[in-house]
Amino acid sequence: MTAKIIDGKALAAKLKVDMQVEIISLAQKYGRAPGLAVVIVGNDPASHVYVKNKKIACEQVGIKSFSYALPAETTQEHILGLVAELNQNPLVDGILVQFPVPEHISEKRILNAIAVDKDVDGFHPYNIGCLAARQPELRSCTPYGCLKLIESTGIKLHGKEAVVVGASNNVGRPMALELLLAGATVTVAHRFTNNLKSHVERADIVVAAAGKQGLIQGEWIKQGAIVIDVGIHRLEDGSLTGDVDFDSASKRAGWITPVPGGVGPMTITMLLGNTVTAFKKHVGVVT
Ligand code: GUN
Repeated sequence: MTAKIIDGKALAAKLKVDMQVEIISLAQKYGRAPGLAVVIVGNDPASHVYVKNKKIACEQVGIKSFSYALPAETTQEHILGLVAELNQNPLVDGILVQFPVPEHISEKRILNAIAVDKDVDGFHPYNIGCLAARQPELRSCTPYGCLKLIESTGIKLHGKEAVVVGASNNVGRPMALELLLAGATVTVAHRFTNNLKSHVERADIVVAAAGKQGLIQGEWIKQGAIVIDVGIHRLEDGSLTGDVDFDSASKRAGWITPVPGGVGPMTITMLLGNTVTAFKKHVGVVT
């Protein structure tokens, strides 16, 4: 078998076109466009690239972005003060503080300070709790994007065996909650899991989010499985690769995401979608 490619770039582009149309009519009706505040602290080059890409994506769909680039020495109190101000700003629907932040700043304190209705990353414990309680509000971008990619195959998730590899707060845990909500039987594997292979082998759906290059071997993949690769690693020759050994896995999987061009473009698109969702709530659109 040669796997079909799940084209995240194409799906993201389609969703963005639909969003652009919706935002034009929302802005006309409510007199302003959705607004996203993006805060970055320090000089991490990769983070600056991510933030720039998020701002470009906002422009593409008509979301107004507000940028706050702060020096690495910025105090935690200053950032908390800025977040408090943005929480009150009626033109700001979403607040994103790019992580990682410098070591003297607590990520936990920052994300807990963001108003839950402006938490467009979907990282706040309130929003994770809503998902766990089957009342999703703002959903974590990468897991929600992965769910959309899985749904794009047309394969129903009810009763399927899903294995999430990685139990991070931002990806693995909310991913497991998304799959559970969608009716799959979910296993979460993590650094203390014994015999990872035995779990992956029985999965109809594998979501690899361990952050370890090539961790998932192609021979482990069940024939016909859906494989979603959240990992992104730069090789010495400059090319990008994931947590899954793509060449061997694509010989067994039914569907597989490429790296790049799979999960990455969907994460940003879900961020835009969350900003529109937050805007609708703020202006009082009844859904
Ligand atoms: N750093 C890497 N990915 C993300 C993300 O999705 N959101 C935030 N806030 N920081 C990140």
